[in-house]
Amino acid sequence: MKSAKLTIDGNEHEFPVTVGSEGEVGIELSGLRKTTGAISLDPGYGSTGSCLSEITFIDGEKGILRYRGYDIEELAKNCTFVEVCYLLNFGHLPNEAQLQDFGDKMTRHTLLHEDMKKFFEGFPATAHPMAMLSAMVSSLSAYYPGAGIDEDLDLNVVRLLAKVKTIAAFSFKKSMGQPFVYPRNEYSYCANFLHMMFSLPTENYKPSKVLVDALNLLLILHADHEQNCSTSTVRMVGSSHVSLYASIAAGISALWGPLHGGANQAVIEMLRMIRNDGANYQKYVDMAKDKSSGFRLMGFGHRVYRNFDPRARILKRTADQVLSELGVDDPLLKIAKRLEQVALEDEYFVKRRLYPNVDFYSGIIYRAMGIPTNMFTVMFALGRMPGWIAHWKEMRNDPRTRINRPRQIYTGPTHQVFVPRAER
Ligand code: SDX
Repeated sequence: MKSAKLTIDGNEHEFPVTVGSEGEVGIELSGLRKTTGAISLDPGYGSTGSCLSEITFIDGEKGILRYRGYDIEELAKNCTFVEVCYLLNFGHLPNEAQLQDFGDKMTRHTLLHEDMKKFFEGFPATAHPMAMLSAMVSSLSAYYPGAGIDEDLDLNVVRLLAKVKTIAAFSFKKSMGQPFVYPRNEYSYCANFLHMMFSLPTENYKPSKVLVDALNLLLILHADHEQNCSTSTVRMVGSSHVSLYASIAAGISALWGPLHGGANQAVIEMLRMIRNDGANYQKYVDMAKDKSSGFRLMGFGHRVYRNFDPRARILKRTADQVLSELGVDDPLLKIAKRLEQVALEDEYFVKRRLYPNVDFYSGIIYRAMGIPTNMFTVMFALGRMPGWIAHWKEMRNDPRTRINRPRQIYTGPTHQVFVPRAER
């Protein structure tokens, strides 16, 4: 396909077409308004591309997910999360020396400025950790001003990747009323996070290999997912040339929503509700089919995947393995599997091609690791950090990037004659 033609009021207009490396076709409509006076209208952007990107490829029909061309299954099996952070950030897998150097930098920048600890004191104990995470990441721009496309960019990227796990762990400790635990340089990224989460002044906590491996996998599976709601938010906010930290803080807020990254918390709350209701799966499947109920099967469905989400398939296997290795028998896992089976035999879900997504099983594993439900979306944000950063950098380095400013079709009142208050 070389071009696309559009006929409006009998006039034919031709638009160029861009074909991506995987054969996806995009009609270049940036000139549509100038040449036709009309704009395209696509609420939710289901058929609208915002950019060209070299970072992640998803084939929703075939259930393919690749970071920089590598299948998610390969990366999940063979890499650490730090290695995938390098891949997403620099565009290629690191050799031993590059990985060692990048890992050392990530270790050296894990501490927060001591003044930042005071911010946590201002939050109520009931504050959701996502509220703290977004506020803390935004406040990093007060300590590292600028954080734009400049000579300090690589350093600011390392600072953000390294410090965000400390902020996340401190948010957890704040919500538990426990003292903050400082990172230790002898630990790897995931071991350090688990150490900061679960160590106490009264007892030393040694992160087990099972948990470190499970956390590496979970973070890798969440590391990027092309133009999802939160990544598009990071790109949109970053298009105004605000700092990397402020752009990422906006992405954290977008991720928090229950239709997006907040779904992993909502899935566990839903499974608990089903368990407490006598595991009456069909009742909840029927509710999800009834629009008037306002209830959705959380962890099901996806804008892009019209088949299985490859991440959900990996996590379903991992849930079995991690729970058995930890000797955890979680009734919610059985309910999740049964619910999946009932839903996938139901015409409503089959017809709409609604399958479990990444959020359906992830919470089961986080629970088994001892991570509380209100921290699940924070875990999603930890994983998505390298993806958000890679897209922010790609957007800022793209010469075609302009400040994002969509148009609208106005449907409000036409001109009104002003009537003085005394006459109304
Ligand atoms: C993530 O974009 C990404 O890549 C996101 C993500 C990432 O890695 O960044 O993959 C992570 O956010 C996964 C999604 C987590 N959210 C949930 O699990 C919440 C439950 N899911 C739904 O709200 C929904 O499926 C979405 C939000 C995921 C997708 O919404 P869409 O694409 O706007 O689909 P839709 O709402 O238009 O639904 C299409 C139809 C509708 O029915 P009809 O109007 O055709 O009759 O399917 C129905 C919907 O009512 N539907 C559901 C459903 N999801 C869609 N019905 C019941 N339960 C559901 N979960």
